[in-house]
Amino acid sequence: MTDDEVLGKAYDARLMRRLLTYLRPYWRQVTVTFVAILVGSGAALAQPYLVKQAIDQHIATRQLEGLDRLAFYYVLILAGAFVAEYIQTWTMQMTGQRIMFDLRMDVYGHLQRLDLKYYDRNPVGRLMTRVTSDVDVLNDLFTSGVVTVFGDALTLVGIMAVMLWLDWRLALVAFSVLPIIVLVTQWFRRHVRESYRVVRGWVARINAFLQENITGMSTVQLFRREALNFERFDEVDRKHRDANLDSIFYYAVFYPAIEVTSALASALIIWYGGYGVLRDTLTFGALVAFLQYSQRFFRPISDMSEKFNVLQSAMASSERVFSLLDEPVAVGAPAAPRQLPTPRRGHIVFEHVWFAYDPPATDRPDAPEWVLRDLSFEVRPGERVGIVGATGSGKTTIINLLLRFYDVQKGRITIDGVDIRDLHLADVRGLFSLVLQDVHVFTGTVADNIRLGDAAITDEQVKRAAEAVHASAFIDRMPGGYAATVAERGATLSMGQRQLLSFARALAFDPRILVLDEATSSVDTETEVLIQDALDVLMRGRTTIAIAHRLSTIQDMDQILVLHKGVLRESGTHQALLATRGIYFKLFELQYRNDGRNAPAVVAAAPEP
Ligand SMILES: Nc1ncnc2c1ncn2[C@@H]1O[C@H](COP(=O)(O)OP(=O)(O)OP(=O)(O)O)[C@@H](O)[C@H]1O
Ligand SMILES: [Mg+2]
Repeated sequence: MTDDEVLGKAYDARLMRRLLTYLRPYWRQVTVTFVAILVGSGAALAQPYLVKQAIDQHIATRQLEGLDRLAFYYVLILAGAFVAEYIQTWTMQMTGQRIMFDLRMDVYGHLQRLDLKYYDRNPVGRLMTRVTSDVDVLNDLFTSGVVTVFGDALTLVGIMAVMLWLDWRLALVAFSVLPIIVLVTQWFRRHVRESYRVVRGWVARINAFLQENITGMSTVQLFRREALNFERFDEVDRKHRDANLDSIFYYAVFYPAIEVTSALASALIIWYGGYGVLRDTLTFGALVAFLQYSQRFFRPISDMSEKFNVLQSAMASSERVFSLLDEPVAVGAPAAPRQLPTPRRGHIVFEHVWFAYDPPATDRPDAPEWVLRDLSFEVRPGERVGIVGATGSGKTTIINLLLRFYDVQKGRITIDGVDIRDLHLADVRGLFSLVLQDVHVFTGTVADNIRLGDAAITDEQVKRAAEAVHASAFIDRMPGGYAATVAERGATLSMGQRQLLSFARALAFDPRILVLDEATSSVDTETEVLIQDALDVLMRGRTTIAIAHRLSTIQDMDQILVLHKGVLRESGTHQALLATRGIYFKLFELQYRNDGRNAPAVVAAAPEP
């Protein structure tokens, strides 16, 4: 059973209290709604009573004087009921929308604070469901759930009281159908609840399926998996439909059953009340009023059973939303953050760093989970460091730790002498510009994508940055230039163009430390020359860490670190490393044997030393 299928209790005091805190800022609106409900219930109770008065005092006694006045009251009450219902609907819906807004902002705010480990664990589809449909269900709770259930209950109790007051024997006769109602309602609730749970499960599966397969549509089409996926979707969709059909069955039985029971109550009232009228123990007007009351009695009952479901699903949704809100932020700000000494120099030190994405249960250094083992190195201010190593050796992980997307398990990382865990996240990340192979482009203009919403970066700076890294050439060719819009995920740009764009972005932010992760592997040779030049511009005067598969791009670095299975095996300059004839030497030989002029784009794995 997945999270999305769990249905808890219909009423959970702890959750309810927490939900009510969202209601608190709107206590005025809530008060207005309650008053409107009271007025509405009162009007519903008064109408049959007026009919009774009209019949007993005027029609039956042929005393027409005063009947006009009663008719006038009746219309007045109808008008009052209209206004009350209008106010109730409007304020309730409005409050619901505002609460939904507040809650959604809370959830999004928290999502932005959560660390990458959380995103490793939770698929996008599920998080989308939290922010959209789960919050929507909560809205139902406020608008059609709790508040109107209160109104229904009030009406119900009122009607019972008035019926007992009018004629308690007849009232008891009418109430004799209640056990049937209770049985039918319980049967309905139990089954609808279960089928609702099943429907939700299938909805979640449909979402997950769509999310994955729409994102990967090109792969699906390339490998001609359309027919197969269509079949799989057909199955999921069919199960979803059948689950819905199941619940429709219960509704289809429930409503007519309530109708019939209500008619049965009317029949009983006419039968027993008819005797009463004939024996003069009951007035004719009271009989009519009883019939009307009994009809008004059953509607809230069927409404309430449906709202019970709303309540239940809302509780389940709120449980999920709150558990997201309660998700602790593993990588957070320290209680008393320290300041970086000024001026910022960009001096990085890794001291005996151990790291695993899934921390091993044992403390043993040979546990296979360790991605980085006892890693120590130093990058002095302004120094350029290259990192090489086989796929999966932990290069990107080093960057993830440095930018504090994850925290180390043992050892520490310092910048300018301060442990990065003692710094504000924003202070740490503000030092860096990160250029990745896979550039994330947002919907918007080219200029927006270079300054990423930072208003402090002027148009002039954007332009200068783009020119410095040779991105201006292709930008100028785009219709609209810097104001040209780019599609979501940069679909309308080539890989190399996105790369140049990200260089411009990195330069515009003028960081103290520059980090490049295989930034040069997706471009042609001509562009590579441009990029090499752009890189030189980028790196000027900055501490630089560059991860590369192509050794040619890092040959001139001040220091090269060679990583093997999470262990730092060699370090030194290009010349020094070649002289030791170790892993680096073999890598270098391999690349140059394959391609005399230039290194191949990809080296599958470093040879065993
Ligand atoms: N988010 C993650 N959760 C769990 N394990 C991960 C995660 N990211 C990477 N790993 C694992 O950590 C190890 C090191 O990954 P890393 O991305 O650092 O390699 P890399 O040296 O950058 O490789 P490449 O050259 O292919 O980019 C790999 O075994 C990988 O499976
Ligand atoms: Mg990597």
